[in-house]
Amino acid sequence: MSATNVIRKCLFPAAGYGTRFLPATKAMPKEMLPIVNKPLIQYGVEEALEAGITQIGFITGRGKRAIADHFDNNYELEHQIKGTSKEKYLDDIRNVMDACDFVFMRQRKMLGLGHAILTGEPMIGNEPFAVILADDLCAVPTDSNELRALGQLAALYKRYQCSIIAIEQVPMEDIESYGVIAGEEIADGIYQVTDMVEKPKPEDAPTNLAVIGRYILTPEIFHYLRNTPPGRNGEVQITDALKLLAQDRQVLAVKFKGRRFDCGSVEGFVEATNYYFEHHYKSAK
Ligand code: UTP
Repeated sequence: MSATNVIRKCLFPAAGYGTRFLPATKAMPKEMLPIVNKPLIQYGVEEALEAGITQIGFITGRGKRAIADHFDNNYELEHQIKGTSKEKYLDDIRNVMDACDFVFMRQRKMLGLGHAILTGEPMIGNEPFAVILADDLCAVPTDSNELRALGQLAALYKRYQCSIIAIEQVPMEDIESYGVIAGEEIADGIYQVTDMVEKPKPEDAPTNLAVIGRYILTPEIFHYLRNTPPGRNGEVQITDALKLLAQDRQVLAVKFKGRRFDCGSVEGFVEATNYYFEHHYKSAK
């Protein structure tokens, strides 16, 4: 068990092709698609920062350089707008850049989310860490005191000191798009995971509790990932490694508070855009 109960590092797997958004993602990373005026990946990094995390690791691949540029200075632009009313548009990204350190690692072959997380091992070392899939966008109402999903998981980590994954109840007809847990509810909305299945058919799904893109993982996960043979589509699935981890150690699944938008799908992306325009952008103007 790690000596720290504080999560300091977060991985952002972002090497995928984003085929559902072609042709938009032909030359641009999916993670740079904007919800209103901010790219998806920035929302994710802001959520990590809100959870107290300042060491950010991006798992990227070919065609993802825009992500590195986004979290770096653009002297020409900054010089141009310095002292004008437009400078305020850079406030949020400057806050993130000032607060965080960024590390970039390349996943050279698209061998799945599990493999992408394993690619981050050199940066993580032997401590618990977070994972955010930026295409799952998590929101809480602007007037709420609640932290977004990762902050909720990080608070629970302090108490339980084990791997903790975020789950959401989804309609059974959609279950085939998700990793799904089976488990025993040990506290309100908190499940001890006993089994996990990746993208089951509705008749094979143990529950309708779907895993979404927020995880806190203890470093033992790397051992399980290394020993997980490729599963569905020849990819190393994080679900398979978590299932093995859950057999040996405690893994919890938590129904987080707030909303999640699946911005990896066009429908979820449009829904998120409308939501952020109404609830965040308009009210901030
Ligand atoms: P998705 O299943 O959403 O794949 O990956 P994708 O390529 O991003 O999008 P589609 O399905 O082709 O439209 C879930 C997350 O895992 C990352 C992706 O970048 C995304 O954040 N991922 C997936 C990797 O980093 N590496 C992989 O080999 C696979």
